[in-house]
Amino acid sequence: MTSKGFLLGLDISTTGAKALLIDEAGQVITSATTPLTLSTPRPLWSEQDPHAWWNGIVISIRQVLSDASIDGNAVLAIGLTGQMHGLVLLDAHGQVLRPAILWNDQRTGEQCDEIRRRLGRERLIQITGNDALTGFTAPKILWVQQNEPELYEQARHVLLPKDYVRFRLTGEYAMDRAGGSGTILFDLKKRTWSDEVLQALDIPAAWLPPTFEGPEVASRVSTEAAAATGLAAGTPVVGGGGDQAAQAVGVGAVEPGIIALTLGTSGVVFAATDGPLIEPEGRLHAFCHALPDRWHFMGVMLSAAGSLQWYRETLAPDSSFDDLVNPASGVAPGSEGLFFLPYLTGERTPHPDPLARGAWVGLTVRHKREHLTRSVLEGVAFGLKDSFMLIQGAGLGAIRQVRVSGGGAKSALWLQILADVLNAELVTVNTTEGAAFGAALLAAVGAGVHADVATACETAIQLTGQTLPGDAVSAYADIYPLYRSLYPALKDEFISVAGLVEKQIARSAKA
Ligand code: XUL
Repeated sequence: MTSKGFLLGLDISTTGAKALLIDEAGQVITSATTPLTLSTPRPLWSEQDPHAWWNGIVISIRQVLSDASIDGNAVLAIGLTGQMHGLVLLDAHGQVLRPAILWNDQRTGEQCDEIRRRLGRERLIQITGNDALTGFTAPKILWVQQNEPELYEQARHVLLPKDYVRFRLTGEYAMDRAGGSGTILFDLKKRTWSDEVLQALDIPAAWLPPTFEGPEVASRVSTEAAAATGLAAGTPVVGGGGDQAAQAVGVGAVEPGIIALTLGTSGVVFAATDGPLIEPEGRLHAFCHALPDRWHFMGVMLSAAGSLQWYRETLAPDSSFDDLVNPASGVAPGSEGLFFLPYLTGERTPHPDPLARGAWVGLTVRHKREHLTRSVLEGVAFGLKDSFMLIQGAGLGAIRQVRVSGGGAKSALWLQILADVLNAELVTVNTTEGAAFGAALLAAVGAGVHADVATACETAIQLTGQTLPGDAVSAYADIYPLYRSLYPALKDEFISVAGLVEKQIARSAKA
């Protein structure tokens, strides 16, 4: 295919504002990321300034247009993706009212209980597909309602992070349906806002924007944004998708039977479904996918490659990842009885517990650094198996393929451990640009380059590698039940630990 035009994927993640340019055949031309910082003004809080997203993405867009030596007229369409669940509150004039409260903010435990009380937990799961979790948007809105009432009075619009960027890019309030369902104000089956949930939570329906399917053209670049970015006024902007749904599009997990497993800072096991299936206990997230008539289940582990990153930064800052990880291949499966619990930032699936904490269990004087390293790789693999098993048990039918991506997938040892722990064949794909790539493919469909998202994926995505389960499968089958028993054994102690930490903070604040 000769390229006539280009597609732009924009990803507002927690760590950077990324612009990615691909051609009509799905080849990556160039990308640029402007780093973003996170503010944690109090323990459990996590916030970002929405203006920083816009300033960052303007720089990244200008960079890719310049690197590719094209002008804005060559961009056929734009797709947006980004961190899900974050709360952006705007006043009647579209002004930002407070820093955005992000997906990994854990302040809303009480508001989650209140949502369950007001709707009934079962009814909440029936409508939205999900239990109330601290990460989701609805409890954050209640938190502002209860803790910052003067500011809440001025609120008129609720947006997600990438949709604030959309607002600055197009002047329109709009949201994709994958993102909409991640607010838990959404009726999962009907793919639209739930009046029942909004009424129960006293949130005005007029504050929520219209929602769009991932490849649907939602709005167009405004004259003002064109001047700021170098894009052409009128360029179509599609609905796009929350980062996990867009990531799944980017590796071709758009039909039932194909699992996307992401080994990024967080770890995600994602399964597309062709109906609005619900896990009755709400242990798996159930959201709309970024394409029409598709939904998905998802298990989210909060610290996956993030655990290894913490481990290196804290205990081996002078070693490269390879120097740290490679010696662990000489350690036998099970790390000589050493278990690592990867709950460094609390957990979501299968233990929705902001107070869960990381731990090593089973340390002896025989353990060397390579044992600790292997136990971290194994602990993350066991945690992902928890989600994988929930998905296997959720009545989806056969799993045909597991597509692995994310920074952790660069480690052959970690892939082998994962294949052995899951007892599943893993494949890698040629597309490594993550959610931004998925967003660009959605834009390609919106621009009419492809008839639908499945065709876009088939055109752009090829399998590049395969890891088969090996000799360690039965060893890990023996070890995994012991890992499973550790969280229940420590759950109450984690609550006491959190209480102690609060006391210590209060004491040092007084001193
Ligand atoms: C998904 C989730 C994260 C964020 C940040 O439920 O919370 O993936 O979207 O990347």
